[in-house]
Amino acid sequence: MPGVMGLFDNVHMGASLIRNEQALDYEFLPKLIPFREGEQQYLATCIKPLFNQRSGRNVLIHGLPGIGKTAATRVVLRDLEEQSDDIYVVYINCWQHNTTYKILLETCDQLGYKFTQNKNTTELMKVIASICNKKAAVFVFDEIDKVEDFDFLYSLLEDIFRKCLFLITNYKSWLMELDERIKSRLTPELVEFRQYNPHETKEILRQRLDIAFHPTVWDVPAFDLVAKKAAEVKDIRGGLFLMKTAALEAESKLQRKVAAEHVQAAVSRMDEFFVKNQEELEDDTRKILDLVTRDPGRKIGDLFHSYQKEGGKGSYKTFQRKIARLEQNRFITLEKSGGGAGGNTTIVHKNSDIKKLDEF
Ligand SMILES: Nc1ncnc2c1ncn2[C@@H]1O[C@H](COP(=O)(O)OP(=O)(O)O)[C@@H](O)[C@H]1O
Ligand SMILES: [Mg+2]
Repeated sequence: MPGVMGLFDNVHMGASLIRNEQALDYEFLPKLIPFREGEQQYLATCIKPLFNQRSGRNVLIHGLPGIGKTAATRVVLRDLEEQSDDIYVVYINCWQHNTTYKILLETCDQLGYKFTQNKNTTELMKVIASICNKKAAVFVFDEIDKVEDFDFLYSLLEDIFRKCLFLITNYKSWLMELDERIKSRLTPELVEFRQYNPHETKEILRQRLDIAFHPTVWDVPAFDLVAKKAAEVKDIRGGLFLMKTAALEAESKLQRKVAAEHVQAAVSRMDEFFVKNQEELEDDTRKILDLVTRDPGRKIGDLFHSYQKEGGKGSYKTFQRKIARLEQNRFITLEKSGGGAGGNTTIVHKNSDIKKLDEF
């Protein structure tokens, strides 16, 4: 109807500023993973014996969230698959598959074995061994700290002859908690992923920006702001969140360019990014975070009492470990306060104020 202003009249005006939206997904795998060449080379070295009829080396890959552990490892696997048909590759995210049974099912699926119905874990494991032992295999268990039992690890270590097990976690301490019977068979090499510096963070984000957007869409100060904020939260995903949110903001205002004001609008929604990451926490750890959110700035001991009162289980040691995990994941900050009648104590602060850390 000409002359009537429709709700969707604008749809063709503001053509999307985003050329390749997938490039802004956290799971998107770029061709190259700069600044992780050393780590990738090392992982390749651990796999190489498999090419010579020997067994490979196991690795525990650790480091903070959002710094390329998954991406760098997946690129190594991709290269390996392109290089050889003689080595099976299994990649499992233990957040999605968190029990021995689920992990073995998924493993069968990735190995191309379909007749899993009515098979129990022992039978599934037999199938996997008989397939893998005809060749060699690399198993990657990402977010290994999310698994509820370790029987599958024990079985793979025992029953597969030529293999590498790569375990990825944000928590190096996870290894200490591991059963001695598994630890002694695993004897992993440790590969630590260090944090990116601001320059590296910016380069990585620029690479993604070039894939995701038409050239000239981004104002220089706007991108500078994204890079600065991502360096502050020390998590590449924070930068990807800002790029996407800012671009959508600009689009909704029918702009042809993403400007600093759009990034500022995105920064003010940074809380959503942290809330989203919270979904990755275990229930119990999230409960503790809720406690801190409701009542920030308390002593760790008092917090533990509240936790117990609300039905929280486990020792003070376990509680401290969960608190440490929340700190590592940057949900909270711990402040050591010395002296006083009560001696030293730790004050637990909430971290959603990240955007308040520095007003720009
Ligand atoms: N060196 C890098 N080069 C390109 N992209 C990277 C690099 N490091 C991280 N990324 C990207 O940042 C995001 C987070 O990385 P990811 O591997 O998921 O982190 P982690 O597994 O350590 O939590 C992913 O989208 C990943 O592609
Ligand atoms: Mg990861």
